Amino acid sequence: MACIGIFDSGSGGLSVLKEILKVLPSEKYIYFSDDAYCPYGGRSREYIIDRSLKIVKALVDKGAQAIVVACNTATGAAIQILRENWPDMPIIGMEPAIKPAVALSKKAVVGVLATESTLHSDKYISTRDRYAKGVKVVEHAGEGFVELVESVRLEGPEVEAVVKKSLEPLLEAGVDVIVLGCTHYPFLLPVMKSVAGPGVQFVDPAPSVARHLKELLESAGFSLGDTGFSIEIKSSGSDETARRLYESII
Ligand code: DGL
Repeated sequence: MACIGIFDSGSGGLSVLKEILKVLPSEKYIYFSDDAYCPYGGRSREYIIDRSLKIVKALVDKGAQAIVVACNTATGAAIQILRENWPDMPIIGMEPAIKPAVALSKKAVVGVLATESTLHSDKYISTRDRYAKGVKVVEHAGEGFVELVESVRLEGPEVEAVVKKSLEPLLEAGVDVIVLGCTHYPFLLPVMKSVAGPGVQFVDPAPSVARHLKELLESAGFSLGDTGFSIEIKSSGSDETARRLYESII
């Protein structure tokens, strides 16, 4: 049995939990939504590091034996420092899915939707520069996307208008693949698909993060799947959004 702590600035990380549950359905989970401090997107690196250290400490105090940073923004800002503080604990973060997106693109024009903080992080920039040689990468923040998801507005004309505004610059540049670089964004995927049309594919790194977590736990010697599933949902504000979105992913 493994007790896995997962956190995000809010409920976006539940899109990662959804993929984790497909490969690790019988573990103990603690999900922490930092919704009182959400969004992280425009915050300083120091601020996000401070929140991440406090959250991981709280998760470890509650018994977490492994941590999933289910937030691209917190991964970019804090994963290295978290690993330095808990050197013996498996800690896994989000990877910008540039490499698979480049492999999928026939036009060699790839879009990336992520928060401003992620787009400016060293981790993102070095991944992009490493894997996107010879490919045009068009980046844009999903403006207003996190707020929509945190208020569980996932469809309808208002949502379409917000999504269209951030997708348009990518579509005008001719992208045929878009990387979802923020864990909130998969909740808006049906709307994004209808705005982008059938010629555009979306890449979410969450399934590969889930597989990587499983491998990491196996190689760390956890005996998996032997006690049954449980989940505890916690938040720094109100649990309501996380609970509603959790209902939508199971
Ligand atoms: N869900 C987060 C991410 O993956 C952060 C969104 C935010 O708080 O701005 O980047």
